[in-house]
Amino acid sequence: MHGILLGEEIPNFQAETTVGPISFHTFLGDSWGVLFSHPRDYTPVCTTELGRAVRLAPEFEKRGVKMIALSIDSVEDHLGWSKDINAYNGEAEPNDKLPFPIIADPKRVLAVLLGMLDPDEKDLEGMPVTARCVFIIGPDKKMKLSILYPATTGRNFDEILRVVDSLQLTANHSVATPVDWQPGDRVMVPPTMSEEDASKKFPCGVFSKELPSGKKYLRYTAPPK
Ligand code: BEZ
Repeated sequence: MHGILLGEEIPNFQAETTVGPISFHTFLGDSWGVLFSHPRDYTPVCTTELGRAVRLAPEFEKRGVKMIALSIDSVEDHLGWSKDINAYNGEAEPNDKLPFPIIADPKRVLAVLLGMLDPDEKDLEGMPVTARCVFIIGPDKKMKLSILYPATTGRNFDEILRVVDSLQLTANHSVATPVDWQPGDRVMVPPTMSEEDASKKFPCGVFSKELPSGKKYLRYTAPPK
């Protein structure tokens, strides 16, 4: 089972979560979504990641992105661990509320459906655990971006926000973002756009870099407003 590929619709699965049962499409509504899995509750790297996700939740909300986490532990474990996450973030009297739900998938049904299991990373019973998957889902419920990290490498949540910014920009404007792009930087004209169309589309100008091949494919323009 390969999971869900880019451009495929994410299934409308039902799940138990820390805020009660959900239907995934109803949870998403018309919003963008980020579904991120982690191997197990009460583990060190996961605690640092979820702590960072909690602190960045207002930034995801500003961009209209609904966050939801998943692991193969129970709702009860998720709630107990949520207190530890809030304590890790420096809360003096930590409670079990996080700004996003965590899906409980103890039978690994969703992990299999969504292609999240890492056969190289096993729990103490020898069963594979969920990798650190990041799935970004568009308002059309299709997979827009998928990144998989192994259990031993924590994610960079600033990078996840950066790719959300790129995905939302490129969904609304006919541009592409170059390496290490940050919001406000110049953007690139896609190779599929003719010179004539580019000059109509970007009246503020298109700058193309001279290359030894003589081909004009490195074309930049100002960031769309
Ligand atoms: C962790 O979150 O620290 C972790 C979980 C599984 C394997 C390795 C690290």
